[in-house]
Amino acid sequence: AQKFTVKSFRESKENNRKISMLTAYDYSMAKLLDAAGVDSILVGDSLGMVFQGNASTLPVTLDEVIYHTRAVVRGVKNALVVADMPFLSYHVSREEAVRNAGRLIKEGGAEAVKMEGGALFIETIKAVVDAQIPVMGHIGLTPQSVNVFGGFKVQGKEEQSAKQILEDARLLEEAGVFAITLECIPDKLAQLITSSLRIPTIGIGAGKGCDGQVLVINDMLGMYSDFVPKFVKQYAKLNSEISAAVGDYVSDVREGHFPSEEHTFGIDADLLEKLY
Ligand code: KIV
Ligand code: NA
Repeated sequence: AQKFTVKSFRESKENNRKISMLTAYDYSMAKLLDAAGVDSILVGDSLGMVFQGNASTLPVTLDEVIYHTRAVVRGVKNALVVADMPFLSYHVSREEAVRNAGRLIKEGGAEAVKMEGGALFIETIKAVVDAQIPVMGHIGLTPQSVNVFGGFKVQGKEEQSAKQILEDARLLEEAGVFAITLECIPDKLAQLITSSLRIPTIGIGAGKGCDGQVLVINDMLGMYSDFVPKFVKQYAKLNSEISAAVGDYVSDVREGHFPSEEHTFGIDADLLEKLY
């Protein structure tokens, strides 16, 4: 396999080759995903929900994303590692945005950052792009705006919001982002955006017309059951696998079946004698 870069994103779209992306938050998982051939790994602020157990992504800090990114990067050879800019890391000023994006690259080891928002954040996003940091856009259902939306709801179903999302996509391409995540919008709107841009779209709950797809790893492996969105396909049911494995372990320990000989260290009999 070859190293996947921001250039590979553009080339994939030109060659009609779909881009696969998944989230990861730790070394072991990142290593598995990379070895399995995923094109890009996102250290998403979804870690606030599936890793930390918060009800939204809002509490996640920049230092936490950096911490997880460092772990992920150590497991990755070929995939492009993108780190999310969490809430409030780019909302105060352009200067803070550039400094914080830079920390994800410099301290975290990410190769690109992802920023939610369109028109409202376009100057900030441009400032980060100008600092030579590749940016992935993210529009539609932007979870950091959950309190404005009044919940996690499909976006772009009314004329005004559909037009805004389309306009946001165009502004982001103009600002120089290398790709755009489209979250929870109608498939036909995602298709229209995809066909009107030269940069690739990466969909999550945005239909098959996008240039690539992204899912939260805990969702697609069936190991996060607090909330299973309609757009999630569970490729495994790790919830039940883990429950069964842990249940077996607990009863093995209680009944003295674990550890057995093969998991046990011995000692020389003469030495043992001396110890008594
Ligand atoms: O944080 C995340 O996992 C994301 C993806 C859902 C796109 O932003
Ligand atoms: Na995110």
